[in-house]
Amino acid sequence: MAGRRMPRPSEVLPLIGRPDRSRTALQRRLERCASVWDVRTMARRRAPRAVFDYADGAAMSEASLARSRDAYRRVEFTPRVLRDVAQVDLQVEILGQRSALPFVFAPTGFTRMMHHSGERAVAAVAADKGIPYGLSTLGTTSIEDLANACPDARRWFQLYVSRDRGSAEGLMRRADETGYDTLILTVDTAVGGIRRREVRNGLTIPPQLRLSTLAEMARHPRWWFDVLTTEPLTFASLSSSGGTVGDLLTRVFDPGVTGADITWIRENWSGKVMLKGIQSRADAELAADLGVDAIVLSNHGGRQVDMGNVPLELLPEVVAAVGDHVEVYIDGGIMSGTDIVAALAFGARAALVGRAYLYGLMAGGEEGVRRVAEILEKEVRTTMQLIGTRTVAEVRTAEVRLRGRP
Ligand SMILES: Cc1cc2nc3c(=O)[nH]c(=O)nc-3n(C[C@H](O)[C@H](O)[C@H](O)COP(=O)(O)O)c2cc1C
Repeated sequence: MAGRRMPRPSEVLPLIGRPDRSRTALQRRLERCASVWDVRTMARRRAPRAVFDYADGAAMSEASLARSRDAYRRVEFTPRVLRDVAQVDLQVEILGQRSALPFVFAPTGFTRMMHHSGERAVAAVAADKGIPYGLSTLGTTSIEDLANACPDARRWFQLYVSRDRGSAEGLMRRADETGYDTLILTVDTAVGGIRRREVRNGLTIPPQLRLSTLAEMARHPRWWFDVLTTEPLTFASLSSSGGTVGDLLTRVFDPGVTGADITWIRENWSGKVMLKGIQSRADAELAADLGVDAIVLSNHGGRQVDMGNVPLELLPEVVAAVGDHVEVYIDGGIMSGTDIVAALAFGARAALVGRAYLYGLMAGGEEGVRRVAEILEKEVRTTMQLIGTRTVAEVRTAEVRLRGRP
C-alpha cells in the first residue's frame, strides 16, 4: 500500500470554493433549491404566514389538493431504453401557437401580495420561456399595464363573470384590444370555496394592519417594506374589496353563469375560449357541444369544492370522449416536471401550474419564478429522455398507469 503524504498547498487551494460574485446571494440561494418543494420551503420562510397560507392552502379539509398531488405520486411509467434520446423537443402547439414548453402559468388572484413584482414578474418569465400566462380577473396589475410591461408574453385573460355583465364585457373588450389571445372562463367558482386558513389567519383583502400583524412585520420586514413602499396592493380590475377572497367571489360574481353564456362570450370576444374547472365527463361533453376551443380539467387546485374528483384520474376518459373536438388541459397538484410528463402521457395537451410559480414568486420575485421554470423544464426534459421519448407526441403514446388502478 502506498504511504500517506501531506498534500501540497497547490493541490488543496483549487478545491476551496470561492464565492461566485457574478450571481447575487438570492440567485445562489435559489440555485441550491433542487425541487419546487425546496422553493416552497424558501417561500415559507420569506413570506408572512397569512400570505404563504393564502397561496399554499385549499378549501375545507384540503383533501382535494392532497389527492391531486398524491395521484402524481402513484404514476408509474414503463421506461423504454435503447432509444436515441440525444435530441429532445419540448415544444407543443397550444391553441394554434407553438409553446416552447408543455406548461402554462395559470391565472392566480392577488399575485402582488406574494411579491411586489407580481404579475409582471410572472409574465416576464413566461415571455422568456416562450409559454403562455393567464392574467386573473382578480389580478393586481391591470390588463393594459401588463400588456405594456410584457408585450412579448403570450397573454391570456381569465374571466370571472360579475353580476354586472357590463363590467365583464368591459374587461373582455380591454383584453381583446390589448392582445390577449385566449379567454379562460373559470366555471368552478359559482361561489367562493371555504378556505379555512384564510379565516384562521384573518386574511382579508386588502390585508389589514392589526397588532398581530405588527409582530409578523418584525419577522418579515423585507416583505412589509416592499409592500408599503410600492404601488398599493389592490385589485386592478375590480372596485370591490373587503372580507376574505372567498367572500369576495361570492359577493361579486354571478352564480347564474350557464352554457348559454358562451354565446354572449363569443359576441364579446374574438379570440380562443377555454373553460377552466371542468370536473366530469358530462361537462366535458357539454363544453365540446358548446363549441369552446379548450377545457381545463381542474378543481381549482382544491380551492373550491373539497372532495371533488382527481383531475389526473379523470383525464384518460375525458380525452377519449372529447379529445378530437376540444383541446384538453389539466391542472392541480403539479409540483414537478415528472408530473407534467405524466399529464401528457395520460393525454393532456399541456398542464397549467399555479402554486409552483407562486412559491417562486414568494421565494425571490422574478428570480424565484425563473428558478421554478428552470427546475420544471429540466425535470420535463430529463423524464422524457429517461422514459425513452423525444417529443411530446411520443410522450402521449408512452406506457403509463396509476398504481392501484387497473
Ligand atoms: C393563490 C391562488 C389564486 C388563484 N386564483 C385564481 C383566479 O383568480 N382565477 C382562476 O381561475 N384560478 C385561480 N387559481 C387556480 C389556478 O388557476 C389553478 O387552477 C391552480 O392553482 C392549479 O393547482 P396548483 O396550484 O396545484 O398548480 C388560483 C390558485 C391559487 C393557488
